Amino acid sequence: MRQKIVAGNWKMNTSFQEAQALTSELMGMAGDEVRGDVKIIIFPPFPYLYSLKAQLGTNARIEVGAQNCSEHAAGAYTGEVSAGMLKSMGIQNVIIGHSERRQYFSETGPLLAQKIDGALANGLKPIYCCGEPLEEREAATHEELVKTQIEEGLFHLNAEAMKKIVIAYEPVWAIGTGKTATTDQAQEMHLVIRKHLASKFGNETAALVPILYGGSVKADNARELFACADVDGGLVGGASLKSRDFIEIIKSA
Ligand code: PGA
Repeated sequence: MRQKIVAGNWKMNTSFQEAQALTSELMGMAGDEVRGDVKIIIFPPFPYLYSLKAQLGTNARIEVGAQNCSEHAAGAYTGEVSAGMLKSMGIQNVIIGHSERRQYFSETGPLLAQKIDGALANGLKPIYCCGEPLEEREAATHEELVKTQIEEGLFHLNAEAMKKIVIAYEPVWAIGTGKTATTDQAQEMHLVIRKHLASKFGNETAALVPILYGGSVKADNARELFACADVDGGLVGGASLKSRDFIEIIKSA
C-alpha cells in the first residue's frame, strides 16, 4: 500500500502571526477530523520552520517541510539554507524542483539531482516536482518533457534510494490558475510517470512511490482526483492557506 499524503505549500505567503494561527487551527481540526493513515505535511516559509515545528510538538499529527534547500552542504553561499541545517532542526521533508523554482530561479535537472542527493544524505524526504508548461501540453510533448524531468532528477539513484522519494506531478498551466487537470489527464500522466519509474527501478519500487497531484486542488475537486488509481494525494498551494479548505482536501484522501 502506498502512503497517502496531502501537503500544503504555503509559498511566500503569511506573516509569522498568520502562520502560527493557521498551524494551530490545523492542529485542532486534524486531530478531530482526519483519519490517521493520511500523512499531512505543511511547507511554511523558511524563517517560520523552527517555531512551527515547536508549536506542533512531539505528538504532532502534522509534519513540517521546507520549500527548497541548497545543493551545497555548507560554506559561503549567502542567503542559502542547506539540507543539513533543516535536519538539525528536526525538519523531515523538502520540496525539490517546484516549477516556480525551475522558472524564476533557473533551477535545472543536474542541479536538482544534487539537491536530491543532499536531502537524502541528511535523511530528509524529498517531494520531487515535475510538470509541463501549457505550450508543451498543446504541442503534445508533455509526456516526453515530464519523463526527462524524472530522468534528470532521479535516474541516478538506486532502487533503495528511489523508495524514499515522493513525486508531485504539477502541470504548470494548472498551478494557481484555477484550471485543474481532469481526472483522465491526471491519471494518464501519473501512470506515465509510474511506468517510467518501473522501466528503470523495477515494478516493485515503482509501485511503492507516492505520486501526488498538484495544480489548483480545491475542496470541491480533490475527491475525484484522489480517487484515481495512481494519484496518491496532493500538493496544495492556494487552498492550503485556509485551514477549513485544507482539512476538507485532506479528508478527501
Ligand atoms: P496551487 O499551487 O494549488 O495554488 O495551484 C500548487 C503548487 O504550486 O504546489
